[in-house]
This record gives sequence, C-alpha cells and structure tokens, in this order.
Amino acid sequence: MRNSILHHVSLLLFSFYIFFLLHLPHPSQAQNLIQPNTTGYQCPGNQTTGSGYPCRTYAFYRASAPNFLDLASIGDLFSVSRPMIADPSNISTPNSTLAPNQPLFIPLSCSCNFINSTFGSISYANLSYTIKKGDTFYQVSSFSYMNLTTFQSVEVVNPTLIPENLTIGVSAVFPVFCKCPNTTQLQNGENILISYVVQPSDNVSSIASFFGSKPQSIIDANSKGFREFDTIFVPVSRLRVLTQIPVNTSASPPSPAAATPVTSGGDRTGTVRGLAIVLGILGLLLILLLGMWVYRERLSKDRLATVIGDEERRKQSFMKETKKGSKEEEAKLMANVSDCLDKYRVFEYEELREATHDFDQSCLILGSVYKGTIDGEVYAIKKMKWNAYEELKILQKVNHGNLVKLEGFCIDDDEANCYLVYEYVENGSLYSWLHEDRTQRLNWKMRLHVAMDVANGLQYIHEHTRPRVVHKDIKSSNILLDANMRAKIANFGLAKSGINAITMHIVGTQGYIAPEYLADGVVSTKMDVFSFGVVLLELITGKEAVDDRGNPLSTSVVRAFEVGISEQEKGRRLREWLDGSLMRETLSMESLMGVLNIALACLHKDPTKRPSMVDIVYALSKSEESNFDTSDDTIDSPLVSARTGGSIFL
Ligand SMILES: *[C@@H]1O[C@H](CO)[C@@H](O)[C@H](O)[C@H]1NC(C)=O
Ligand SMILES: *[C@@H]1O[C@H](CO)[C@@H](O)[C@H](O)[C@H]1NC(C)=O
Ligand SMILES: *[C@@H]1O[C@H](CO)[C@@H](O)[C@H](O)[C@H]1NC(C)=O
Ligand SMILES: *[C@@H]1O[C@H](CO)[C@@H](O)[C@H](O)[C@H]1NC(C)=O
Ligand SMILES: *[C@@H]1O[C@H](CO)[C@@H](O)[C@H](O)[C@H]1NC(C)=O
Ligand SMILES: *[C@@H]1O[C@H](CO)[C@@H](O)[C@H](O)[C@H]1NC(C)=O
Ligand SMILES: *[C@@H]1O[C@H](CO)[C@@H](O)[C@H](O)[C@H]1NC(C)=O
Ligand SMILES: *[C@@H]1O[C@H](CO)[C@@H](O)[C@H](O)[C@H]1NC(C)=O
Ligand SMILES: *[C@@H]1O[C@H](CO)[C@@H](O)[C@H](O)[C@H]1NC(C)=O
Ligand SMILES: *[C@@H]1O[C@H](CO)[C@@H](O)[C@H](O)[C@H]1NC(C)=O
Ligand SMILES: *[C@@H]1O[C@H](CO)[C@@H](O)[C@H](O)[C@H]1NC(C)=O
Repeated sequence: MRNSILHHVSLLLFSFYIFFLLHLPHPSQAQNLIQPNTTGYQCPGNQTTGSGYPCRTYAFYRASAPNFLDLASIGDLFSVSRPMIADPSNISTPNSTLAPNQPLFIPLSCSCNFINSTFGSISYANLSYTIKKGDTFYQVSSFSYMNLTTFQSVEVVNPTLIPENLTIGVSAVFPVFCKCPNTTQLQNGENILISYVVQPSDNVSSIASFFGSKPQSIIDANSKGFREFDTIFVPVSRLRVLTQIPVNTSASPPSPAAATPVTSGGDRTGTVRGLAIVLGILGLLLILLLGMWVYRERLSKDRLATVIGDEERRKQSFMKETKKGSKEEEAKLMANVSDCLDKYRVFEYEELREATHDFDQSCLILGSVYKGTIDGEVYAIKKMKWNAYEELKILQKVNHGNLVKLEGFCIDDDEANCYLVYEYVENGSLYSWLHEDRTQRLNWKMRLHVAMDVANGLQYIHEHTRPRVVHKDIKSSNILLDANMRAKIANFGLAKSGINAITMHIVGTQGYIAPEYLADGVVSTKMDVFSFGVVLLELITGKEAVDDRGNPLSTSVVRAFEVGISEQEKGRRLREWLDGSLMRETLSMESLMGVLNIALACLHKDPTKRPSMVDIVYALSKSEESNFDTSDDTIDSPLVSARTGGSIFL
C-alpha cells in the first residue's frame, strides 16, 4: 500500500514538473505566443457594477537619469504628489534626489474607457502630459513612461492629435496600462494587479518571487503572452516593501543590486517566498492525494480503510458524531458543511478544550469568543449552539483579505455545541481603539486605511459573491485590526445571503441600524452602507454610535450638517465634531471633508439614494489622495495651525 502511494506521489510530482516546464515561458519562448495588443488591454465594456472598475492600482517604475531622478518630476509625469509615491515605495526622503534605478510604486486610478463600438473598451490610467520640444509619442511612452504605455495606444486615445505634427504645449493623454482584479482574482486574494514592464533579464519565476506573486497567477493574468518591454500585470495581495537605495553624492555607478528585480528582493525574502511556493505546491499535492483517496474509497471501501489517515478518520468521527444531536438543525448543518469538509480543518472538542484551558474566563475575548493556541498557532474560537450553519454557509463562499478567515470548526454533540475556529486578529477591535482608554491613538492616515479596508471587504461581499451577502451587523466592534493595523470584518453571525428579502425578526445593533430595516425589515446591501456611514462618523468624531442618553450619533451629525449650509460653515462645524486626538495632527481639510461627505451620503434616509460600496471605495481613494497631498500644499486651514511638530505628514 505504501508503495502504491509513493508511486502516486512521484507520478504527481512528475506531472507537476511537466506542467511547470510547459507553463513557465522564458521571454524568448513567449515570443511564439499570441502577441498582446499594442493598442491597449481590453476591459469589460462600460463601467458596470461588479466589473471591478475603476480601482486604485500601482505601476512599478524606476527612477532614471537625467530627467526622472526626483519624486517631483516623476509625480508630475503621473499626476500624483510626492508623498503618494513615497508612501507605498518606502522613500524616507521625498524631497531629495533618488539613486538611478530606485524602484518605486506609483499609484494609478485605473478605469475602463470606451473608445468606439468597433474597437471596444480598454483599461488605462488617464494621465495628461504637456508636449514639450522634441517630444514624440514614441519617445515619451518608451522612455519617460518607460514602456508602461505604447505610442500605438497613445494614438488611439488622442484621435484629434496628429502624431507627426505635435504642437508644443498641447496636452495629450498618455494611457498608462493597468487592470483591475476580477472576481476570481479577488477570491484568490489577488487584490492588486501591478503594472510591470518586462525587462530582458526577467523570467516569470523571477518576477513572481520579486513581487511575492505566483508564476501561474502571472501567466493567468496575462493569458495573451508577452515579450520584452511589454507591460504585464502581476497579481499580488499587497505591495512588497521596497528598499531605498542610498545615493552616493560622488555620483557612483548605479547599484547593480537595483538593476534587476531578481536581485534587489533580498535573499531572505526570496528564499522564504520560494519556500512558500514549494509548500503551496506540496499542499496542492496533498489535497489532490486526499481527493484520490476519497475517490478510491468509493471504489473499494474496505481496502482503503486502513490508510485513510488522521484527517479522514477525523471526518468520519465527525460524521458519526453528528448522527446524534438535534435532528432538524443537524440535517441543515450537514447539508451545508458537507462541502467544506475538505476546505476546513475539523477540530476535536478535546483540542479546543485544552487550547482554551477548558473555556476559562482568562481566555475569553468577548461574548462567547475565546482565544486558544493549538499546535503553536493562535485562534479565535467561537462557541455557538446549533445555529452555526448560516454563518458557515456564508463563510465558505467568501474569501477576502479584509474578512476574518474561518480556519475550521468542531461539533460537540454531548453539549450540542458547535465551535467555529477563526484566524486570530492581533490588535483587537476598532471599537476599543476609538472608544477605550489607550495610550496610542489612531491617526488620520490609519483611520483612512481602516475605512478603505472595510469598504473593500464590503464591496467584495456585496458585488462579488453570488448570491450577494449582506453582513447586517457592521459596527466598530465587528471590525478587527491585525498586526499591521489593517482592518478585517468579523462576525457573520447575522449575515444573510440573498437580498431584498423581508424579515420579521429585526436583529442588529442600536445606532447602526438603517431606518428602512427598522421600519419594514427590508434587507439590502444598502443597510450595510448605512452602518458603514456610522463607522465613518466614529472615525471622524471619535464618538460612540449611541451617546449616553441613547441618541444615535448619525441623527445628531446629519442634523448638524443639514443640506444647504455653506462650505465654510460646514468646515467650522466639522472642527467642532472632530475627534480631539486628530486635532494634534496636520490634517487635510479636503480629506476630512471628503470622508464626512461620504458618511453623510451613506446615511441618506432613502436607501436608493445611498451610494454603492463601489462608489464609496472610489470616493475614499480620492480622500486618501487628497490626504497625501497635504504636505505639498500650504493650506491655510485652521487645522494646520494646530500642528505641533515638524512632521510633514501623518
Ligand atoms: C458604452 O457607453 C457609450 C456611451 O456612454 C455607448 O455609446 C456605448 O454603446 C456603450 N457600450 C456598451 C458596450 O455598452
Ligand atoms: C519638502 O518640500 C516641501 C515643498 O517644497 C516643503 O514644504 C517640505 O517641508 C520639504 N520636506 C522636507 C522633509 O524637507
Ligand atoms: C487588437 O485590438 C483591436 C481592437 O479591439 C482588435 O480589432 C484587434 O484585432 C486586436 N489585435 C490583436 C492582435 O489582438
Ligand atoms: C482624461 O483626462 C482629461 C484631462 O485630465 C479629460 O479631459 C478627459 O476627459 C479624460 N478622459 C477620460 C476617458 O476620462
Ligand atoms: C522600451 O521598449 C523599447 C523596445 O520596444 C526599448 O528599445 C526601450 O529601451 C524600452 N525603454 C526602456 C526605458 O527600457
Ligand atoms: C475606432 O477607433 C479606432 C482606433 O482609434 C479607429 O481605428 C477606428 O477607425 C474607429 N472606428 C470607428 C467606427 O470610429
Ligand atoms: C502642423 O500644425 C500646425 C498647427 O497645429 C499647422 O499650422 C501646420 O500646418 C501643421 N503642419 C502640417 C505639415 O500638417
Ligand atoms: C529565472 O531567472 C533567475 C535569475 O535571473 C534564474 O536563477 C532562474 O534559473 C531563471 N529561471 C528560469 C526558469 O529560467
Ligand atoms: C479573471 O481573470 C483570470 C485571469 O485573466 C481568468 O482566468 C478568470 O477566468 C477571470 N474570471 C472571471 C470571472 O472573469
Ligand atoms: C524601508 O526601507 C528601509 C531601508 O531603506 C528598510 O530598512 C525598512 O525595513 C523598509 N521597510 C519599511 C516597512 O519601511
Ligand atoms: C561613493 O563613491 C566613492 C567613489 O565613487 C567611494 O569612494 C565611496 O566609498 C562611495 N561611498 C559610499 C557610501 O558608497
């Protein structure tokens, strides 16, 4: 039996090897593939909801002599401010000269643009460039934009300009290529598609290891193939950390370490990523193997019984256990979890009991959620009665970096309890950060990040799950912050899939509930939008959703900012409402006002007038941009005078 397994493993390994040989084209091999379109990358037509457009994305760019060795001129080229590049690129000195080849991540607003009905739509960042003496479309796209666009595409988007006769001073659109992730990519945690120009020394695996992506993801995302100097899209879950190359004032030659992405990655992270890929493949192998076992079990049940192993035995004991228990609930649960048996770890009750010291008070996080350590890994364990099936059903459908991940579950039929085991999110709830005594407060930049993360998570469940999921209980205590202070939405206990249903049984949390739900029980994605608006108010004001006298924050704020007041008056009132701890920072009034306006729109009485999460994500990214812009402008907002120290921006 063991021999036969070994045989299968080696067969599988061999087929993987062949698979990778076939699928890892070297740039020279890639030339034989279908050539990508030099005029741009097609996108799914007009901006329909759910298509993912528009989105914020990034281009990978290198500083180059002589014109683009400082963030100011690179920023002008891409219509962004210095801090907007310095921040994602980890540049600590945004004002000084950069080393040649300094790698940078440049933010782009990526949209899908309709050209004409025969040509269709292409996705790009609409950057406007003023023609200077000696410029040609080719020169500017190949050298200033470093092949992140092509002259052919520039011609397509500037039908009125004659390429051979460009007037100095006219403004032309340079369509820097970009793509927004689709549903499948988002489900795989590929939140960003970095625009990257393939260099002669690259191969797919070196690009993947530099950016922390997977070779197969890159190949899938660029299915038309690519050659040297083509722009490709590298799917990643987050941007890697770049290193600032020190500038040698005595004009040393450019550091060779920075010349190719392969070597500048740092050996350790490279190895770790390599290891992760190998482990991933091994994991896949294991799953396949398990699948085979299950398949074969059907064929010859008894023969396999001895080799099934721990995992399978656990599943069987789980099946056995569920034979008892409340019949009706159990039937429902079984129907819903039977699909997840492969996806999730089935824990044993003893394991959980040990991990939480017999569900001791000292391990209690909140409500019925305990912290427990199993095999050195920390988890959050939620104890429930038999009503877990709704949450399980929803959680098995969703998978996104801004949603708390379910790791496994456990059924304890003696007590008729069900336990859901989640990833442990280190930094606790947003509620505790905003409303409990802490020495460290969230600054505005962090708050904007939190808002953006939650909006992304909600956009995902609203737009990218079928049927759509409504969380129904968005509030600051259900938003958790991880070690990097990125936010994750937790507690899908009340969530509903399917929308426009009417419920008689009103659930939710006071201060966050949308009026139409309270009045008529109408469940729609717009009720999450309302609750999200309340969370935005908490972020701005630092006040709780309901005050001591039971008055909802949303009502008071909406009343204070009634329609029709002047912008000036709005600014004055905003300063009165602002969280005291934000007063000590240099803030962009524009950014604050932007978020306030989003919050007010979310709180509209009429659910149809509230924006969708797609609109909100876009609007928030604008507020993030205007926040980054502060250090460049000298705004004479009274808020700026409240600054205490020399820090230029948050
Ligand atoms: C996209 O919108 C434009 C105008 O807004 C319209 O003319 C065109 O037919 C639309 N195209 C598609 C594919 O829906
Ligand atoms: C960078 O330049 C801007 C404007 O040129 C200035 O306001 C800011 O203080 C400078 N920052 C640093 C760190 O020198
Ligand atoms: C490039 O795109 C245009 C417009 O969508 C299309 O007509 C043309 O056939 C494409 N060419 C290739 C080589 O894919
Ligand atoms: C691109 O930007 C220019 C100026 O910034 C604007 O006039 C034009 O309408 C924009 N085009 C698209 C397709 O958004
Ligand atoms: C852009 O691509 C062209 C070939 O199409 C190449 O000659 C040129 O060197 C590239 N530019 C840069 C900055 O690499
Ligand atoms: C559509 O746009 C392409 C590229 O600019 C152009 O070649 C083609 O003639 C246009 N077709 C129509 C019907 O306008
Ligand atoms: C070039 O453009 C200018 C102004 O746009 C025009 O006066 C001139 O006649 C054009 N030259 C040619 C050769 O088309
Ligand atoms: C990819 O490039 C790296 C470094 O340039 C090299 O070590 C590796 O062998 C290459 N892989 C393939 C499949 O060509
Ligand atoms: C998303 O894009 C990937 C890569 O291009 C493709 O394989 C997948 O089918 C797409 N998914 C959807 C839902 O369009
Ligand atoms: C930023 O860059 C510096 C060196 O330039 C490096 O030491 C540091 O680890 C980087 N990481 C972050 C998160 O800033
Ligand atoms: C800078 O370059 C000079 C000569 O080019 C060299 O002597 C010196 O060690 C370099 N300094 C650093 C910090 O690399």
